[in-house]
Amino acid sequence: MVYKNFIGGEWVASASGQTFENRNPANTDDLIGVFQQSTAGDAKAAIAAAAAAYASWRLVPAPIRAEMLFKVAQILVERKEAFARDMTREMGKVLNETRGDVQEAIDMTYYIAGEGRRMFGQTVPSELRNKFAMSVRQSIGVCSIITPWNFPMAIPSWKMIPALVCGNTIVFKPSSQTPLSALNFVNVLTEAGIPKGVVNMVTGEAEVGTVMTTDERVSVVSFTGSTRVGRIVNQAAAPTFKKVHLEMGGKNVILVMDDANLDLAIDGCVWGGFGTTGQRCTAASRVVVHEKVYKTFVDRFVARAKALKVGDGLKAETEVGPSNSQMQLETVMKYVKVGQDEGAKLAAGGHRLDAGGYAKGFFHEPTVFVDADAKMRIAREEIFGPVVSIVPCKTLEQAIEIGNGVEYGLSASIYTQDINRAFQAMRDLYTGIFYVNAPTIGAEVHLPFGGTKHTGNGHREAGVAALDVFSEWKSVYIDFSGKLQRAQIDVESA
Ligand code: UN1
Repeated sequence: MVYKNFIGGEWVASASGQTFENRNPANTDDLIGVFQQSTAGDAKAAIAAAAAAYASWRLVPAPIRAEMLFKVAQILVERKEAFARDMTREMGKVLNETRGDVQEAIDMTYYIAGEGRRMFGQTVPSELRNKFAMSVRQSIGVCSIITPWNFPMAIPSWKMIPALVCGNTIVFKPSSQTPLSALNFVNVLTEAGIPKGVVNMVTGEAEVGTVMTTDERVSVVSFTGSTRVGRIVNQAAAPTFKKVHLEMGGKNVILVMDDANLDLAIDGCVWGGFGTTGQRCTAASRVVVHEKVYKTFVDRFVARAKALKVGDGLKAETEVGPSNSQMQLETVMKYVKVGQDEGAKLAAGGHRLDAGGYAKGFFHEPTVFVDADAKMRIAREEIFGPVVSIVPCKTLEQAIEIGNGVEYGLSASIYTQDINRAFQAMRDLYTGIFYVNAPTIGAEVHLPFGGTKHTGNGHREAGVAALDVFSEWKSVYIDFSGKLQRAQIDVESA
């Protein structure tokens, strides 16, 4: 099946005449579809369509825009199972998780559609008589939405649904690893009645992204991906002063204190470290464990990692799917070698799986490094795979210092029964998300999502914070005194 770009409400082939293949990472014989390798010209055509549609879309009342979005959520509910299956085939994560991915898109869509009847501004008293003061959110224009492959429907929804409810139009470039889930989502938006040109999708690589981040007609860029590419996006968008929202890397930490409920901590570290094959920005790829419980924790965690069932995510018994691509698998293998060269102790896994049923996929054993030093690369750099590094610590203060000792600041967590320790860690770990007695993954759609330091650039998605990315404030003053009143000058005394 050959899939096309979606521009101005029409499915169109790229001017390049070139396409790329989308294959199943659990079995590369399984061809999912062929997609457009688009050109700068295709991206420009999509931007032109979005710019033209903006003139009328911004004037559609927000509650009416929201009605279409409620419909989007309803259709997603109906198709959840089929979309989850498509997603597991192209992304690799297990079915329960791809169901969760579609569910996250549903939750976000219902939640943000509700904003169509809120989008609160402020009304405040004026310092002058017979004058009214308030603020309203206004739409911005064309938004470029650039998304990764690890949450193929959830992350596009986090960006596109708030952009739409605020009255913006969209050019969307999904990852070339997961274009089918993107296309499924765009089809639903169209079916729900979003008008032609309001949402446009162009598949392809950097040539498309460059236009989307530099074209004068684009006002907002929202990007989720690596810190390296995020920096390029930010620089590309700077000369035209676009509003840029970046969501980038993570090296998230779980602190396990000596008073922790170890059963709970181990469950959390297994899920946080190996869920989604470690391919979440929020994955718990570092665990800092108090020396008093270190040995017990390590023995039990390693045993659990070894027992995980790796396989095709479509099979019910699978707990850990493949890496998403050859490139991702190679990154995992590279870091296994880096860890060994640095002198960390490999306690579980460490090898690619390629025999028998694994031969056609990008499978790797769940891998645990123990006795890692916080300064090692495996304990500081994002791997984005099934690799967890365990670092011993002596005190809470030292654990917090290790936790903060990386360039990222997305998510952190602590396992402890002591409320004082929990609150101290909450206050002192400089991250955008924090959990107590739960892993670093599992954010819900109605709170802000994002990180500090090299994880982000100060914006948040999800929650009402998402509206701040996709709208701008307008402060409005209405003087009904019938005369000139001068703020700060015509001061009245009581
Ligand atoms: C990501 O980590 O890439 O918080 C997104 C979570 C999910 C979203 C994760 N709701 O784990």
